[in-house]
Amino acid sequence: MKTGHHRWDRLLLDARVATLAGERGYGLIEDAAIGIAGHQIVYAGRRADLPLTPDMMADRVELLGGALVTPALIDAHTHLVFAGHRAAEFEQRLHGASYQQIAEAGGGILGSVRATRAASEDELFAASLPRARALLRDGVGTIEIKSGYGLDLAGERSQLRVARRIGEALGIDVLCTYLALHALPPEFADRRDAFVETVCREWLPQLQAEGLVDAVDAFCEGIAFSPAEIRRLFAAARALQLPVKLHADQLSDLDGAAIAAEFGALSADHIEYTSEAAVARMAAAGTVAMLLPAAFYCLRETRLPPIDALRRHGVAMAVATDLNPGTSPLQSLRTAMNLACTLFRLTPEEALRGTTVNAARALGLDGRKGRVVAGHDADLAVWEVGTPAELSYWIGGNGPVALFCGGERRY
Ligand code: NIG
Ligand code: FE
Repeated sequence: MKTGHHRWDRLLLDARVATLAGERGYGLIEDAAIGIAGHQIVYAGRRADLPLTPDMMADRVELLGGALVTPALIDAHTHLVFAGHRAAEFEQRLHGASYQQIAEAGGGILGSVRATRAASEDELFAASLPRARALLRDGVGTIEIKSGYGLDLAGERSQLRVARRIGEALGIDVLCTYLALHALPPEFADRRDAFVETVCREWLPQLQAEGLVDAVDAFCEGIAFSPAEIRRLFAAARALQLPVKLHADQLSDLDGAAIAAEFGALSADHIEYTSEAAVARMAAAGTVAMLLPAAFYCLRETRLPPIDALRRHGVAMAVATDLNPGTSPLQSLRTAMNLACTLFRLTPEEALRGTTVNAARALGLDGRKGRVVAGHDADLAVWEVGTPAELSYWIGGNGPVALFCGGERRY
């Protein structure tokens, strides 16, 4: 029979869908149908509006038993490729040392640099893959992974290559960020300028030429890099057409978020100490606020990011794990959503937007990921919950019952 219908690969039925279409609300569709062709969603709407019977519409029809479908979650800020761990520093902090004191004594980030440099690429991959897998089990279908524990060309390269390899091994999209100015490596101890110059003139163009850099990041802080150094890096990145983002105003206000906005950054991250004037700059630039409540929690910070100002100025808020060995050994994005609600007073709707649409925006994937709408990638998480708010409400427990990435079922 001729129907004029180009058969879809999959049709998901007997589901409720939080599409997140539009700028507010969950965009819920009851008794929904989702059509998938290739790697894309081609239909997301009411089952009753399908023009043909399900088996005429698609090669494979799957019944989801009334489950809730959301976009697969997006963890848009992680440092999950590293060797070793820093449990000893966790203990030191519990005995009274501060994160800054540990860093100044040559521990902190530099401790992870030593361990990461000593690991072979295969060892790094073996150590890091389970962390990415844990995120996947929690509903994550796209991960941003930063380098920054190599701090020399070979070390940064191997971290970025391992990040790419994780994406291939798990069949998910991984975006690689060169975290170029994270800490000053010991071999440049009294030569800050030479380090920044080498990063900008040699390592950045080289790593980009190897196809390893999707974006460039840095750490703007008293214990890390100054606004002037950040500007040099960002100018070099923009000259190579690379998007930038920044660890900004986490422990003090160096006006980092405003600098990020000045360079049209995808996101300004942490931003606990960011002023309202800088928030206005972020709004004008379309820079996303990347909230990292687990780092706030682990460091027992007390200064809250300017959530009300972000809302008033209409800055999109994203939420991520910041998964790293120092300040945020968190391997669950749903827990980050709960922390964002509990500690930062986000609503569960803001938390879900923060790990879907707004996380996509923070990765430059707006219009391609983060919503369940026709034309987006078929990245879907299937949850046995009654309401979307439960995704932020439960702590621990079970992740989704199924995850689709690019139209393929991952579990
Ligand atoms: O996002 N703030 C800088 N970078 C990481 C921490 C890195 C580390 O301590 O290893 C962060 O919190
Ligand atoms: Fe970070």
